[in-house]
Amino acid sequence: QFFNNQSRELSGKTLLITAGPTREKIDPVRFLTNHSTGKMGYAIAGEAVKMGARVFLVSGPVNLEPPSGAELIKVESAEDMYQAALAQFDEADVMIGTAAVADYRPKYIYEEKMKKKEGDQALELERTRDILFELGQMKKDQVIVGFAAETNDVENHAKGKLARKNADMIVANNVKQEGAGFGADTNIVTIYKKDGTNIELPLMPKADVARNILTEVVQLLKKDES
Ligand code: CTP
Ligand code: CA
Repeated sequence: QFFNNQSRELSGKTLLITAGPTREKIDPVRFLTNHSTGKMGYAIAGEAVKMGARVFLVSGPVNLEPPSGAELIKVESAEDMYQAALAQFDEADVMIGTAAVADYRPKYIYEEKMKKKEGDQALELERTRDILFELGQMKKDQVIVGFAAETNDVENHAKGKLARKNADMIVANNVKQEGAGFGADTNIVTIYKKDGTNIELPLMPKADVARNILTEVVQLLKKDES
């Protein structure tokens, strides 16, 4: 084809990306969250726009400018993120879960600020919904990419998630490694693919990690079409 421009290889495709942390309310002034800054997800969204994709970026609270051209959907809790992602899933060709979704939330949200008392205080938690898992169950021909930030036994954990979540790829990193931690502008990842192969990438800027992931996604989309 005449206009087969390498850099627009996602044109006509819709990507759904989750990014950032979630916040799970305890009371009107407190919440549970994590160290995610959203950089990896926003980098993927930015690169995907450059490659011609339509991008829905479902994001928890972060301090980043959304990449121009991406459609930002702001959420707070894991449940909000699930609902927002679900609403776009049918339309999506690709779902990429970079969000650090809380696994647990307080079982009861106090309507008034909790007052301190003598002695210890327990906080009862319940499981949140696993967004990637749920969408994996509903998958038609979407390409699904998950992330796995681990501190140990990276390969086993990543491969477990690949199977359990019905994903096509899991992008894993060891957050204890220098240059691969939360908030860094670089990452060191291994991409575990459903076909059993993996791609070990060296330390590189998150934008380059994003490019590598999206190049793999393009290959999978091509396979689907043939
Ligand atoms: N994920 C999700 N919804 C959740 C939890 C995780 O969509 N409630 C997604 C993440 O966005 C990521 C992948 O699942 O793409 C793996 O997340 P991770 O926290 O590493 O895995 P978990 O299955 O939650 O297992 P654990 O935290 O025990 O390692
Ligand atoms: Ca988790």
